[in-house]
Amino acid sequence: MTAPRDRLRIAVQKSGRLSESSLALLGQCGLAFRQSRDKLFCFGENLPIDLLLVRDDDIPGLIADGVCELGVVGRNVLLERRLALEPDARDKVQERRALGFGRCRLALALPVGEPYEQLSDLAGRRIATTYPKILAQFLEREGVAAQVVELSGSVEIAPRIGTADAICDLVSSGATLAANQLREVAPVMESEAVLAATATHFADPRGALIDLLLRRLDGVLAVRESKLVLLRTSRERLAEVSRLLPGGPIPTITSVDGHPDEVSLQALCLGAISWNQMEAMQRAGARALMVLPVEKMLA
Ligand code: PRP
Ligand code: ZN
Repeated sequence: MTAPRDRLRIAVQKSGRLSESSLALLGQCGLAFRQSRDKLFCFGENLPIDLLLVRDDDIPGLIADGVCELGVVGRNVLLERRLALEPDARDKVQERRALGFGRCRLALALPVGEPYEQLSDLAGRRIATTYPKILAQFLEREGVAAQVVELSGSVEIAPRIGTADAICDLVSSGATLAANQLREVAPVMESEAVLAATATHFADPRGALIDLLLRRLDGVLAVRESKLVLLRTSRERLAEVSRLLPGGPIPTITSVDGHPDEVSLQALCLGAISWNQMEAMQRAGARALMVLPVEKMLA
């Protein structure tokens, strides 16, 4: 049990692929910070919520050890660290929300030109990775007897220097693989940034702060892909036009002054709306179609 505290601590990647989006997301949740001189700590100015800026690989451990209550980290990093904990300690840090940014995948890759047809082709080969636990679990599940070579970085050069025959590493744009004459042959897991949290329930002010942050986060995540659709149509065509609206809550229909046959429709739609969908609505009788971004929302 950790001592009661009245401020919440969130661990965030100090510099790397998730840092900027993590800070932007917390900003969208209304948190404002003052950064310390050494840039390792951010003091929450408008709420008792502070940030610790750390290496991404340290984030799950900081949560499991009770140093931070929450963290923003890649699902792959979280899973690797959870697998390293004793099974009964894994609840100390768990995924609470998928955040929709930093999408990438952990994948197996071979030097270009090496023949590959199926996973069993990797049997007896050495695979270099910084995710030994995830890889071992994957190989066992797939029934492939390959050797896991644990490295702490620069996995992509392992085949060239002869320390491994294949690699298992994160792939985002694919540029790193291409630059090292490697080709992706099989996915191991999909990843993205997630909010990780301790399973502990706090009786001190941290409990309420976590609830507040999760509610705001849900609002931010919900509007991220939401659009407000505005259009005019005739009463006669209304049913047909409405049928083409992407899913969402029931639209608001209002009559138009001086035009008894006309209505104005306002609908919140979940998910993106393509030009094709807009053109289909236009053909069905919608006019003055407008798709607007939603900035904030409270359900
Ligand atoms: C990952 C991975 C590759 C690169 C792949 O490292 O180890 O080097 O990104 O991205 P690409 O397909 O867009 O080229 P990352 O930047 O996450 O650093 P880390 O593993 O050292 O934390
Ligand atoms: Zn890292």
